[in-house]
Amino acid sequence: MQIESGIRAVLSQPMVYATWQTVLGAKRKHQIIRDEYIRPFKGMRIFDIGCGPAQALEYLDDVTYLGVDLSAEYIAKAKEIHGDKGEFAVESADSIADSDRKFDLVMALGLLHHLEDEQCIALFETAKKALDKGGRVLTFDGVYTDEQSKAAKYFLSKDRGQNVRDAKGYISLAEKVFGEDNVKSHIRYDMTRIPYTHILMECSI
Ligand SMILES: C[S@@+](CC[C@H](N)C(=O)[O-])C[C@H]1O[C@@H](n2cnc3c(N)ncnc32)[C@H](O)[C@@H]1O
Repeated sequence: MQIESGIRAVLSQPMVYATWQTVLGAKRKHQIIRDEYIRPFKGMRIFDIGCGPAQALEYLDDVTYLGVDLSAEYIAKAKEIHGDKGEFAVESADSIADSDRKFDLVMALGLLHHLEDEQCIALFETAKKALDKGGRVLTFDGVYTDEQSKAAKYFLSKDRGQNVRDAKGYISLAEKVFGEDNVKSHIRYDMTRIPYTHILMECSI
């Protein structure tokens, strides 16, 4: 679920979202995600669920990219920015059609904290089916921790997503689908210019 009123309605405009991301330090964040977690290789097949305007694709070359998002506005923006560098479609994470298409990486960056628990599990099941042998699922979301500053907690509480969880909350959902041994998590305090805490999960089959 995503709040779409007040200041947070403004953030759903692609231009405003992109500007806000720049203020937060999006370039460095995307470079860290690419280099340390996506670890791209030539020809890598990437399925990006909840891709927004597909900012992640700006940092990727020589990959096959399919991005889907609930928002027609974000998908229109992604097409305008990237043209045929990727394929883009308006689709909800809840109702991604079954397909035989396989990927090396299914990513959901900034999505789980918008979704209810059952939607996360459905997303993980869809993602698992879409993985080719050796493939991974990568997620990235804001997370509550005991160690984080009051400022970080404050910013997290203002997120548009209504399901920011603690680490256990995210990990237990992923483990339901991938099993305990196949979910690796990383907590990061250094991804944005403002105090914030993120969790990245890498799930394998
Ligand atoms: C915080 S943005 C992240 C965008 C992009 N992945 C990034 O990292 O910049 C969350 C995105 O999830 C999309 N979204 C929210 N609920 C969704 C759903 N049920 N299915 C697909 N996309 C969804 C929103 O439209 C928004 O583009």
